[in-house]
Amino acid sequence: MEWIAALKKLLGEDIISSDSDVLKNYASDYTEDFVFLPHVVATPRTTAEVSAVLAFCNEHKIPVTPRGAGTGLSGGSLPVMGGVSLSMEHFNKILEIDEQNFQATVECGVVNEAFQQAVKEKGLFYPPDPASKGSCFLGGNIAHSSGGPKALKYGTTKDYVLNLEIVLANGEIMWTGANTLKNSTGYNLTQLMIGSEGTLAVVTKIVFKLLPLPQHNLLMLAKFTSIDDACKAVPELFIKGLSPSALELMETSGVQMVVDHTPDLQFPIEENTKAYLLIEVDGNDMDQLFIACEGINEVLEANHVLEVQFADTSEQKEKLWKIRRTIGEMVKIHSTYKEEDAVVQRASLPALMKGVKELGETYGFESVCYGHAGDGNLHINILKGDMTAEKWNGPHLEEGIRKIFRLCKSLGGTISGEHGIGWVQKKYLNEVLDPIHIELMKGIKNVFDPHGILNPHKIWED
Ligand code: LAC
Ligand code: ZN
Repeated sequence: MEWIAALKKLLGEDIISSDSDVLKNYASDYTEDFVFLPHVVATPRTTAEVSAVLAFCNEHKIPVTPRGAGTGLSGGSLPVMGGVSLSMEHFNKILEIDEQNFQATVECGVVNEAFQQAVKEKGLFYPPDPASKGSCFLGGNIAHSSGGPKALKYGTTKDYVLNLEIVLANGEIMWTGANTLKNSTGYNLTQLMIGSEGTLAVVTKIVFKLLPLPQHNLLMLAKFTSIDDACKAVPELFIKGLSPSALELMETSGVQMVVDHTPDLQFPIEENTKAYLLIEVDGNDMDQLFIACEGINEVLEANHVLEVQFADTSEQKEKLWKIRRTIGEMVKIHSTYKEEDAVVQRASLPALMKGVKELGETYGFESVCYGHAGDGNLHINILKGDMTAEKWNGPHLEEGIRKIFRLCKSLGGTISGEHGIGWVQKKYLNEVLDPIHIELMKGIKNVFDPHGILNPHKIWED
């Protein structure tokens, strides 16, 4: 293809590669078992190079799929139309941590956890902590407004972004906002970019606001003989005036998969334990935290908890968090799965969980559920197991998933809390958004990207 040679000539072969081994590395992300080969992989090092790639592709109408670390679960970085996979892996510098103003400026390819650590060393706190924090990029977090356990108390990525440097489809470079805590100056293009899944522009730099680092935290693990009891305890904690910093649910089958695939992990699972709640409180006053834990314990007991364990050491805390964070990965080792990122109001969590299990029986699928219970955000992993490819991709299972989403809607919820719509959920978008909503989004897309080069065929069906 002529355009490939021309793009290589423009940017150099160290930035534009069509080597077949390289292409394979950018053909998949963490979503199911999809493979879509791009024609080339671009690995720019500067905003000017991103701009040059986009200006070229805009002129020649070549699809461009921006890519962070490839940890996404909705297929956002799959280059479904071929073209250019635009990897932001070289944008890995923390440019400034401004201790005067509690802000930081970073490039989009900085790994979430590396950023958290860097600000922590200065006594500052960046809360969004997706399970993939050890490898996911902050730019990818912007693409989906990623959350994680701490979103319960501290909010998701969108709550920490003040300003973005973006490159438009035509190659123009601009900042979307100002480095201020308040801003009421025109349309909020910063927030428009967040959650836009690389369909409107490419984010190159991010200005985040930061918080003071909480000094202490306590972590409890509660075991239940019924998932329903665990779910019912969740809203009650808040009604009783308790406000944990994290409140996570794990179905025992998911924890079992972690134990099975982590050889050196010591974590006995009793037969009658069906679900766990992992509950964290944080703050600066230890006495207050102990009082909060007593209150939490009372609510758990009223909801038939089997046993509550405290993590006494940082090693124990890390072990429990590791179990929680690796469930997704371990489910994937166990079986290919479809990820549904359902979210409802917290008090509807028991109804959602019950409905999902009933639909599993009706439609013949097994699910492993876990997630951010305090946010009403349930990760429903539907296992392929020994299903044939025909059944896995067939209309019956699709109908079952559609019913899950209809249930979410009927409970006042929606179809994604933090993973985005991307490639795999787009056929369900019309379950929760009106046609006029989708038309408005298409209009916005057209203003930013009139040739439709940026991450085409994502979010809605064409
Ligand atoms: C988690 C990811 C899947 O919470 O969002 O583990
Ligand atoms: Zn999650």
